[in-house]
Amino acid sequence: MLSQSDNEMLCGVGPGTAMGDVMRQYWIPAFLSKELPNHDSDPMRLRLLGEDLIAFRDTGGRLGLLANSCAHRGASLFYGRNEDNGLRCVYHGWKYDVTGQCVDMPNEPDESNFKNKIRQKAYAIQERNGIVWAYLGPRQAPDLPGLPDLESNMVDPEATEIWTAMRNCNYMQALEGDIDTSHLGFLHLGAIRPDEAPPKSFNYYTVSDKKPRYHVMDTDAGTMYAAYRPAEEDTYYYRFAQFLMPCFTMIPTNSLGTQIIFRAWVPLDDNHTMFWAVSASTNRAELKNPSFREAFAGTSRGPVYLENTSGWLGRWRLANDATNDYGLDRDVQRAGKNSGIVGSYTGIDGIHLQDQAITESMGAVYQRNQEHLGTSDAMVIKTRKRLLSAARALRDYGTQPPGADDPAAYRVRSGGTILPRNADWLEATSTVRKAFTS
Ligand code: FES
Ligand SMILES: [Fe+2]
Repeated sequence: MLSQSDNEMLCGVGPGTAMGDVMRQYWIPAFLSKELPNHDSDPMRLRLLGEDLIAFRDTGGRLGLLANSCAHRGASLFYGRNEDNGLRCVYHGWKYDVTGQCVDMPNEPDESNFKNKIRQKAYAIQERNGIVWAYLGPRQAPDLPGLPDLESNMVDPEATEIWTAMRNCNYMQALEGDIDTSHLGFLHLGAIRPDEAPPKSFNYYTVSDKKPRYHVMDTDAGTMYAAYRPAEEDTYYYRFAQFLMPCFTMIPTNSLGTQIIFRAWVPLDDNHTMFWAVSASTNRAELKNPSFREAFAGTSRGPVYLENTSGWLGRWRLANDATNDYGLDRDVQRAGKNSGIVGSYTGIDGIHLQDQAITESMGAVYQRNQEHLGTSDAMVIKTRKRLLSAARALRDYGTQPPGADDPAAYRVRSGGTILPRNADWLEATSTVRKAFTS
């Protein structure tokens, strides 16, 4: 349970809020490179951390991320003309380059130098392997932090899959689902009996014992859990997962040591979140394998989207949403199966959509003073504390939050593994939890 004031601190991401200031110390995924593929692109509305921004790619291919509201008298730059290395407001023709500098002011006398004094608010932005990252914080080049060393965004882009989906709830509510291993045996695998799972598989162990025990700890850039349950007589099945500041996770879907992923829950505003799943494999064929895809994308068919619109919240919306109860099929729920790869406990198709339905069903911002946490919520509790103490330390002492200036702290992996019951779980996995080792 959290007090109302801690809950507000945890969930509020807008400018001037304590957690919003934490978020602004990091690079965060802003949009896909393919969303603005062309030079002199159409400007794109982009809400991030509660701010309305306009993204564009200029004539030279450089990306810009400007405040929506024109520095002159506030017209939206979404309606602007993207021409000749700048975005021109169509109200009075003021034009800004990607740095926000006003480079033309055609409604002022020729001898005026007023334009040199005007800057549109602009944020730093950079591309890496298909992801456009944004930094909304106070630091300027050359003092910007480095991009986090997230492995799946740094290896061969040809062997990488990225997908995004908007979620209609607060980032933390969505993220808490990623670090809560005990829901797997219910929400996603609850309809599978042990004799239906392949013997000696991770799923077999998960559905055979639905009460894992936990180790949780702080790491250099966040928190980690190792949840364990009996596997064979002398072994445990361990699931290792990472939370990385400020909104990244690595879940334990596949094997620790070979799984290369990260997920991000990027706050668009307090009530909306853009989910990112970035997965890489040294085996390109594996990316197309339905069971891999199911685990990664949460649906064997891949996500089904509504058509994107140019609205602030118009990108990457899933076709099944609260308006149709996420496609809930009560017959499938009763029967406990559908045509998918896993049986269905919910009657909702696909892991991702099941998570989407359930976290959105809690309301846009769940009031955590109403909850009742059990031992299975240890990682959730640890992670909230990590975020809240980072917010207080930054607010009260100006302390940089964990990992913000330490890209190498992100060189970690997650996944499942089998260990002898008497093994030192931390020591035994020290190598396979490191990124860039294969
Ligand atoms: S409001 Fe943009 S140029 Fe006047
Ligand atoms: Fe889930």
